[in-house]
Amino acid sequence: MEIETTALLADYDHVRKLAMQSLFQSLDKFSEGTVIVDRNARVVWINRDYAARFGFNDPAAAIGLDCEAVIPNSMMRDVVKGGEPILLDILETDRDPIVVTRLPIKDDNGETIGAVGFVLFNELRGLSPLFSQYARLRAELISTRQSLAQVRRAKYSFSSLIGTSAASLEVKRQARRAARLASPVLLLGETGTGKELLAHAIHGASGRADAPLVTVNVAAIPDTLLELEFFGAEAGAYTGAERKGRIGKFELAQGGTLFLDEIGDMPLALQGKLLRVLQEQEFEPLGSNRIVHTDVRIIAATAADLPALVAQGRFRADLYYRLNVLMIRVPPLRERLADIEAMAYAILDKLAVESGAGHLELDKDALAVLCAYTWPGNVRELRNTLERAVLLSDSERIDARSLARFIGDGRGQRRDDEGGDPRDTPDESGAQQYQQYGEAMRDYERRFLTDALRAAGGQVTKAAAQIGMARATLYRRIVALGIDV
Ligand SMILES: Nc1ncnc2c1ncn2[C@@H]1O[C@H](COP(=O)(O)OP(=O)(O)OP(=O)(O)O)[C@@H](O)[C@H]1O
Ligand SMILES: [Mg+2]
Repeated sequence: MEIETTALLADYDHVRKLAMQSLFQSLDKFSEGTVIVDRNARVVWINRDYAARFGFNDPAAAIGLDCEAVIPNSMMRDVVKGGEPILLDILETDRDPIVVTRLPIKDDNGETIGAVGFVLFNELRGLSPLFSQYARLRAELISTRQSLAQVRRAKYSFSSLIGTSAASLEVKRQARRAARLASPVLLLGETGTGKELLAHAIHGASGRADAPLVTVNVAAIPDTLLELEFFGAEAGAYTGAERKGRIGKFELAQGGTLFLDEIGDMPLALQGKLLRVLQEQEFEPLGSNRIVHTDVRIIAATAADLPALVAQGRFRADLYYRLNVLMIRVPPLRERLADIEAMAYAILDKLAVESGAGHLELDKDALAVLCAYTWPGNVRELRNTLERAVLLSDSERIDARSLARFIGDGRGQRRDDEGGDPRDTPDESGAQQYQQYGEAMRDYERRFLTDALRAAGGQVTKAAAQIGMARATLYRRIVALGIDV
């Protein structure tokens, strides 16, 4: 009985050895590549096809080399070191990726003395669904990473800021310096001077450029929702629409920059809360007891006269001083006349591309008209004016007459401008000029809104409430119509 068992066990051992042998032979036969390395991960043997795949026409030339010198990205050394197999893996090669299996080779004492690797790709066609899924996920990952990087990158950089006048160069110098520092930045300047553009450029040139730039337009959000917008809310903190919870802009900007546009419009109560967050660098989302630590750089901007608001008690002095560490005053366009030509041509070139027109040219007298105007709406108004002139002009040359019709309502014309109000210029044919419908409506709207603002003592929020208009809409109309507030 005992003899029988011993014979049986010897037979099993024999079968096991045969099984291993034939497993190796089958894998070697069906595999596109086989490689064996020694305990130092040096190639002991490699088959012809596999060697050829990595540029060795003669497999003998690979013998004795480190596995990585033959197969870039090889993990055979890990198998030799760790003694554990890697049963299924994808090896990236400069052609297609391949599916491989790697097994340690052990001696009778169980010590690892080498490793063997097979390419399973050719014969295991069953893996192709897995493969295509892998390829699809990889492609998705790459494209998601690319679009994320694009979204996060600031929209405008210093190179997109036009202007070589002394005033513009000084602003750019200050902004570049601000980009290198960590303190809050306060951008002051009339509407349309390029404050938002600068905020993007500063973020893009800062050490936070790879993290998000998040913008909150304080004037465009109803006061009652501002706190929620800033700090977010825990699920269930609100009934109704906000039941799901919401991430605040402070949290979204983590690691990056929070751009607080139109900060002069921030309600006093929220100013206090903002100040506290800036001081303590932490806050709790509404309805939660979760503390969020903030690592956010603040850039604030406003066209309002912030010191005047402080003097009137409408803006907290302590918040003003907190934000006013690096103040950049963006000068109005009329203080950098030397920029107008370059600015106008940059706008015209863009318009030409958008409209499919050829090269658009400004007449000399047209340029003179542009330089004579005071531009209360600054670069934005310049762009709108050129846009309208191009739209209504049949020629690719823009002359003074075609521009003059659109420049403000004559209010902005300089007193030293010899041309006077351009609309007074008689038509060449001497025919009577009728005011057009669109222009008449704009005149009426301008008068209506100016009256409303005057009645509200210049307070936009109050005026908007009194005439039943959304505050953000009123702001937009004020800018579009060039109304002085
Ligand atoms: N230096 C500049 N170079 C090129 N474009 C400019 C420049 N400055 C402003 N612009 C353009 O003028 C327009 C208004 O700029 P932006 O929105 O940055 O102004 P703003 O100061 O934020 O105005 P507001 O106070 O009304 O929000 C934008 O279309 C912007 O691209
Ligand atoms: Mg702005």
